Amino acid sequence: MYRVYHLGLSREDVAGVNLALLPGAPERTEVLAQAFGKARVLAFHREFKSVLAENEIGKILVVSTGIGGSSLSIAVEELARLGIQWFIRVGTCGAIQENIDVGDLVISEGAVRLDGASEHYAPLAYPAVADWRVVRVLQEACERAKIPYHVGITCSSATFYPGQERYDTFSRYVPRPFQGSLREWQALRVLNYEMEVATLLVIARVFGLYAGAVCGVLVNRTQEERVVEEKIPQVEERLARVSALAARRILEGF
Ligand code: URA
Repeated sequence: MYRVYHLGLSREDVAGVNLALLPGAPERTEVLAQAFGKARVLAFHREFKSVLAENEIGKILVVSTGIGGSSLSIAVEELARLGIQWFIRVGTCGAIQENIDVGDLVISEGAVRLDGASEHYAPLAYPAVADWRVVRVLQEACERAKIPYHVGITCSSATFYPGQERYDTFSRYVPRPFQGSLREWQALRVLNYEMEVATLLVIARVFGLYAGAVCGVLVNRTQEERVVEEKIPQVEERLARVSALAARRILEGF
């Protein structure tokens, strides 16, 4: 039986599945899957853990992508080959606007393409835009769950440190192209930094598939550089509730 190379999944494994939730971290896959329904681990190779979740409406996959666009691109390529058409990144991020609190969720309408990997799919002039239906179901899910959220543009950086203008690092040096970049993205009304959304949105568009993203805020970069680790459980719980609600709506046909 043919299995895609990195994920180790076959068409039989994902029969009847049309939607994948994509956290970065393997350890978040089962939490997200269980919020939707009964969960079963299908495969776990490198950073890619694949969990099938099923309830009375249907089945979804939760697949971890690892960190960064290059690793996410592998997961999305292989899932697309298996017939998956809908994708929601469910991740974490750093906010760069003062009015966004740690613990809030950010829904991406589009993304700044500092991810690197998306340039292997389309030139930089091509926009990274979310599917409007995914944006809408995520927004409705936040409203229903009464979770504070923001909708707007995300900056996807290939790196966590220099590309997101962090100075609390080994060298304490940020190369010139990124010096002052946080302030600039902030002035251009970008909401948050993370590392995978742009890659997902570009690949989905050029493949004719449908994608969106919701990320929980772990740090407000107008105040500090380090993530607030105590907030991780709250953010994970909120992401699980919102992504399960959004997945239900997509399976129900909106
Ligand atoms: N993920 C990121 O890429 N940046 C942050 O600041 C937090 C999570």
